Amino acid sequence: MSRGGGEDGRPFMPAILERIGPLLGAEVIFEPEFGIVGLVRFPNGRQSYFWHNKFNLNSVSSARIAQDKGYTTHFLSVQGFRVPRSRTFFREAFRLALDSDRGTEAAMAYAHSLGWPVYVKPCRRSQGDGVSMAMDPAELVEATARVLGRDRMMIVQEACPGRDYRIVTLDGEVINAYERVPLEVVGDGRSSVAALLETLQTTFDASGRDTRIPVEDERIHTRLRRQGLTVRSVLPEGARLRLLDIANLSCGGTTIDITERLHPSVAALAARVAVALDLRFAGIDLLMPDATAPLEDYVVLEVNSAPGLDHYGTAGPDHQAFVDALYLKVLRAVERGPA
Ligand SMILES: Nc1ncnc2c1ncn2[C@@H]1O[C@H](COP(=O)(O)OP(=O)(O)O)[C@@H](O)[C@H]1O
Ligand SMILES: [Mg+2]
Repeated sequence: MSRGGGEDGRPFMPAILERIGPLLGAEVIFEPEFGIVGLVRFPNGRQSYFWHNKFNLNSVSSARIAQDKGYTTHFLSVQGFRVPRSRTFFREAFRLALDSDRGTEAAMAYAHSLGWPVYVKPCRRSQGDGVSMAMDPAELVEATARVLGRDRMMIVQEACPGRDYRIVTLDGEVINAYERVPLEVVGDGRSSVAALLETLQTTFDASGRDTRIPVEDERIHTRLRRQGLTVRSVLPEGARLRLLDIANLSCGGTTIDITERLHPSVAALAARVAVALDLRFAGIDLLMPDATAPLEDYVVLEVNSAPGLDHYGTAGPDHQAFVDALYLKVLRAVERGPA
């Protein structure tokens, strides 16, 4: 989500701030050498720093707690929100240091108790990095090795049904909401999965989207293998094939904007979650059957304290105006200061 570069590979924030600074009557001062961090001086006398696309809206501790999936689910669940059943497990040396019994064997036992499939993920990464679904014990062993090869903590979590939504709240108001759909291709009766992915990459490139489709990703191959397919398989015309079990945009997921259709009960839930974590600005990730219908089943999957707003749901001529309008709201909130 945090898209570093614009279409030409340069950071996109300077251009946005150049356009919206004057609308606010604000002075924007970039650090000149790298042009990534800077200072905004508002007409009301307030001045505030930004770091890339991160503005000073949230406190440091709240933001750090949101970055840790274990801490976030703890504080949400004690405040009555529904979160996926999950538990943290440790790499062997760390487990011994903590004198904990939560090692890889315990992780396997916990997965059995949850029932298959389960999700396995690092505690503090983002953009889908290291997140995978394990259908069975063999896949859990693989996923555990992948996560604990790089991190000392991992989460094993029940797989939750529903669609994947991101609801962005700012001081209690939902400013953007969209569904995220995992990477998928549609067959044409001639092309292999690999060729379809290449074509999709070309489409992304042409639209200015800087996502690299992770063609070599083991998770794609695992998902294909489960269905008896490989990247060389040819899909029948019109057949839709999902290639990943995660919907992150940085892994090729796409968005469907639902800001105007979001059900008020879901908007209210997202706003309550933001308050519960003491975040003025937050991307609340929910899994639920339908965010445009009255709230029933849901889980809060995670919360992002610095949600990028330059997503791809509205790529096209209106895209720039859409993104500018969102950042205008963000900067107005920065100028206003905390309530
Ligand atoms: N427990 C789960 N049930 C269903 N889908 C999940 C679950 N955990 C993760 N996912 C899928 O994987 C994606 C990435 O997982 P997430 O926990 O959000 O990690 P990250 O911080 O890397 O985005 C989610 O957006 C969702 O599509
Ligand atoms: Mg996520």
